Amino acid sequence: MAYIQIPDDEKGYKLDLFCVPKHYEEDLDQVIIPHGLIMDRTERLARDIVRDMGGHHIVALCVLKGGYTFFADLLDYIKALNQNSDKSVPLTVDFIRLKSYCNDQSTNIVKVIGGDELSTLTGKNVLIVEDIVETGRTMETLLSLLSECNPKMVKVVSLLVKRTPRSSGYRPDYIGFEVPDSFLVGYALDYNEYFRDLSHICILNENAKEKYKV
Ligand code: IMP
Ligand code: MG
Repeated sequence: MAYIQIPDDEKGYKLDLFCVPKHYEEDLDQVIIPHGLIMDRTERLARDIVRDMGGHHIVALCVLKGGYTFFADLLDYIKALNQNSDKSVPLTVDFIRLKSYCNDQSTNIVKVIGGDELSTLTGKNVLIVEDIVETGRTMETLLSLLSECNPKMVKVVSLLVKRTPRSSGYRPDYIGFEVPDSFLVGYALDYNEYFRDLSHICILNENAKEKYKV
């Protein structure tokens, strides 16, 4: 499956070319993926997903918290396709909360917090919507939990996949962008809960890692 590759030497865009909240101006190095480009890529992902999964009822499963902005935007595009074509597919939503990060480090423990009973997914076509895949551990854990409930089909869409030697080799079915091995924030990606209120995807600078450390 095709995706946009952001190279390791990508310079991005200077912050002052875009609108960035004042409270984050000192914390970011550059804008790496502007909001408009995220939206344009998401529109195409929606089309690819409907083409492949559109035969049956889709349950879109949002991986909270980081996935919520991408989830909302992706579903808006899927809804637009449903509204404006002769073929359409029922779409229902579900939410699960996973946590594996402390500061900028992935921990080995993936915690499932809250969410509906996964057993409601039995026999359904499930689309897992995730913000970013790094080691792949979060997604592999979720997929093995899900397989216990026997869904009819499971596909994974991740807006971002990080190019990193820490990867387990896991690749989602649909990928928005492949990104360099830096810590990214914005568009609901957080650093200790900060930066979800930033529209563009940006690289966090070293000062900020210290400033927001827990
Ligand atoms: P994995 O289990 O190592 O694949 O990590 C996946 C999870 O770690 C994602 O769902 C994110 O919540 C978080 N994560 C990984 N890289 C980043 C990043 O660059 N910024 C923010 N969160 C990240
Ligand atoms: Mg996540």
